Amino acid sequence: MTPDEQKQAASRRALDYVESGMKLGLGTGSTAEHFVRFLATHVTEKGLDIVGVPTSERTAALATRLGLRLTHLDETPYLDLTIDGADELDSQLRLVKGGGGALLREKIVATASDRMIVIADESKFVKSLGKFPLPVEVIPFGCEVTMRKMVDVAKDFGCSGKIIRRADEFDVPFLTDSNNFIYDCHFNLLPDPDGLSAGLNRIAGVVDNGLFIGIATMAIVGTVTGTDIVSRS
Ligand code: A5P
Repeated sequence: MTPDEQKQAASRRALDYVESGMKLGLGTGSTAEHFVRFLATHVTEKGLDIVGVPTSERTAALATRLGLRLTHLDETPYLDLTIDGADELDSQLRLVKGGGGALLREKIVATASDRMIVIADESKFVKSLGKFPLPVEVIPFGCEVTMRKMVDVAKDFGCSGKIIRRADEFDVPFLTDSNNFIYDCHFNLLPDPDGLSAGLNRIAGVVDNGLFIGIATMAIVGTVTGTDIVSRS
């Protein structure tokens, strides 16, 4: 299977974990969008009672177009299950997320859920995290100071490399759904993901970072021949 077919296979298999009556967190990104499409068809065909909380405006727009019933965390603070993609995952189900810039809402929704299932193609399953640049959501006010502090914290946890503010080809900064910047940390290797995540989040000005540790409960990984289940080792 191609990587996109692997994403679709993982998304389709995730439907096995959806039951009528569930409150679902709906992820962001190309894999999560496959899932949202399959879910909408599944809900109609089986007449399921499902309500979703989207993790981005983009997912909200797609789900609305497809006729899924949506709510928000203020109205529905406890969710049964979140299904979302990832940029990287390791055998301990530690994730790097935020390639699509939605890491903050994704983490809020995932941690409001009893369980989080990651859906991904096999290129995302890595021995060690860090090849994919780690996204960090930063408040625009004083962002250069915040970035310098991120460099120092990174050093403390054995990381070095460029930290680049995400922007388009005209250098217009990317803004998250919460109107913050994203800094992508090109560290290549994260020797201590837990320490780094906690260290970054201690910096005033950092809203959150794309490391999801101890949050995912299972992953469905599409492979060339089918799908594999990864549970926390
Ligand atoms: C969105 O902010 C991300 O966390 C996505 O979940 C991640 O980038 C995976 O995206 P794809 O499914 O498009 O690879």
